Amino acid sequence: MPLVEHDPAHRLWLLRGPESAYAFRLDADDRPRHVHWGSPLTLSQATQVTARRNPADSSFDEPGDERQELPAEGGAFFGVPALAVRFEDGTSALEWRYDGFALDDDALVVRLADRHYSLKVSLYYRVRGDVVERRTTLRNTGDEPISLLRTDSASWTLPRRDGARLSRTSGAWSAEYGVLREPLPVGETTLTSRRGVSSHQVDPWVMLDAGDATETSGEVWSTALAWSGSWRITVERTHTGRVTWTGGFGHEHVGWRLLPGETWETPVFAGLYAADGFGGTSRRWHAYVREFVQPHPDELRPVVYNSWEATGWDVDERTETELAAAAARVGAELFVMDDGWFGARTGDAAGLGDWVADEERFPGGLKPLADAVHAHGMRFGLWVEPEMVNPDSDLYRAHPDWVLHMANRERTTLRNQLVLNFARPDVADWAHDWLDRLVGDHGIDYLKWDMNRAFTEAGWPGEDAGRVWVEHVRAVYRILDRLRADHPALRIQGCAGGGGRTDLGILARTDENWASDNTDAADRITIQHGYGQIYPAGTMSAWVTDSPNPATGREAPLSFRFHVAMAGVLGLGGDLPRWSAGELDEAAKLVALYKEIRPVVQHGSLYRLADPATSALTAVQYVLDDSVVVFLWRRPTEFARPFTPPRLRGLDPAGRYRDQDGAVHDGAVLLCHGLGWDFPGSGYASAVVRLTRVG
Ligand code: GLA
Repeated sequence: MPLVEHDPAHRLWLLRGPESAYAFRLDADDRPRHVHWGSPLTLSQATQVTARRNPADSSFDEPGDERQELPAEGGAFFGVPALAVRFEDGTSALEWRYDGFALDDDALVVRLADRHYSLKVSLYYRVRGDVVERRTTLRNTGDEPISLLRTDSASWTLPRRDGARLSRTSGAWSAEYGVLREPLPVGETTLTSRRGVSSHQVDPWVMLDAGDATETSGEVWSTALAWSGSWRITVERTHTGRVTWTGGFGHEHVGWRLLPGETWETPVFAGLYAADGFGGTSRRWHAYVREFVQPHPDELRPVVYNSWEATGWDVDERTETELAAAAARVGAELFVMDDGWFGARTGDAAGLGDWVADEERFPGGLKPLADAVHAHGMRFGLWVEPEMVNPDSDLYRAHPDWVLHMANRERTTLRNQLVLNFARPDVADWAHDWLDRLVGDHGIDYLKWDMNRAFTEAGWPGEDAGRVWVEHVRAVYRILDRLRADHPALRIQGCAGGGGRTDLGILARTDENWASDNTDAADRITIQHGYGQIYPAGTMSAWVTDSPNPATGREAPLSFRFHVAMAGVLGLGGDLPRWSAGELDEAAKLVALYKEIRPVVQHGSLYRLADPATSALTAVQYVLDDSVVVFLWRRPTEFARPFTPPRLRGLDPAGRYRDQDGAVHDGAVLLCHGLGWDFPGSGYASAVVRLTRVG
């Protein structure tokens, strides 16, 4: 059965996922109108979905209740436009003429042209499982520029339901991905980043439900933007209960000039319908990211050792070589030297931009360290922050015009640094060249690509300044793509002061993502819970660091810190030479255990067994074929505080499962009563349980 079908008589298209369907049609004015997004329908069933009357029909509202597929400014439309343009004569409204369509197995493009002006718009759809990838392109076919005020990738419509609830994240540096689930107010709710990155504050995704979905049941409609710069998603709930949302790159007051002959591409804004709750929604996103987004989904991510929390700025060849030896002893497979290895970088005030190893700290360059790391059988990685410069650097002294700036305005420094304008081809070429040389000349296997401040004064004197918001990100993408193509063994970790740039766009170009600078295991449970709403555990880098935690001052047992980090891509970041022999021994055993279970964690299906916001005892479960791994964590709590024993999920009730101690459990019992695991006392406690199906 084809994934995309067309009914010419009704001018309707249907996109079909395994457990969902999506349909839209053209109205008499050639405007695309949304028809259906939800449970599976056939083409003929989709044609039976009738357009309803707007319950408050009047000369003050859009006629009818059928929403536009990509609402454009113009006509009787009063909502949030996905497309807003200005032609040179001042006209802004858009009027469409249908200009044909094309489809193949899983993709569709519907073309529209303005009835009068030289503007063509194409709506793209691609079916990826139950995910529908959507994007839009605009083409200026005339000889005058067109001002683009808003060019969203896609707009989405919820079928009519009683009630509406919005799930999204709320966060900050070191407190990323907090899940908020609140009734959607009537009016317009805008989630946005004006920071030049997708942001710590809110992730570029939303989930909508009728207020009745749970972790394990109910309909959920979710959408995620594949874009790593500033963005905006506006969700609208009308008085009559209609819920629609629209999203894309850029934020308010950022516009662009579309030049004659130019085509404007928007990023993918992907949507997913799931009928099995928030858990099913997350698992489908994880499967989608693995199958269609990640560059090397079948690989297992290595255990990384990263030097940042151990050495800070005190980086030199001797210290790093010692750390590398200690990391190798506990089982690390990749050693990453973090910030502080180059130029005058002995703190955050100087040297950023001067990407040559400092001669005093690395008298023989990077080679001796790289060789020592390789001699331990580990891969060698380096921290870089290519988009930034300290004003106190040779680079800035030579090229003060290379940064984002505006005439007659201060250049605001944050963390003592400025943002290089990657929209400038010469700057992007410079960055590509030194990165290419660094990787090629020094046998670098891995880059941690960091980005440590938001954009300010995002201008480019003499140019179409709005472009920097988009072209900067595109240049980052191009450099990452080129480096990967030219160095096929290179692996990359994305980072922006922790999780400041986590989105489907960066995950298409990086192998893993540093989820947060907060490495406190207790906080990390919440952070990981939010990360996993959309993004899979196999992309979530998590280190075990020292106790007390350098940032929060909290102490936690080594096993607890490990058990939390082992629920993602385990890494190490502690000051290992200061750990006791006993701690190092325990660490080595836990690293070895992780290596055994990591296929299940990194490639398995995630079941969240308890919500950290409401339960002191939290548990997650991963299932891959016949293997099951459960992590249980209890954060310190009041004495005698009750908790519900987490029941397992995703098992066959008729199956039998053997745990690591040899005891055999019936699936039916695990599903109904859980593992019967109990922790005495009320302090930190944790366990990892492995089950294998034996019948
Ligand atoms: C950011 C990163 C950290 C570390 C520092 C180095 O904060 O998130 O992991 O690399 O920069 O300056």
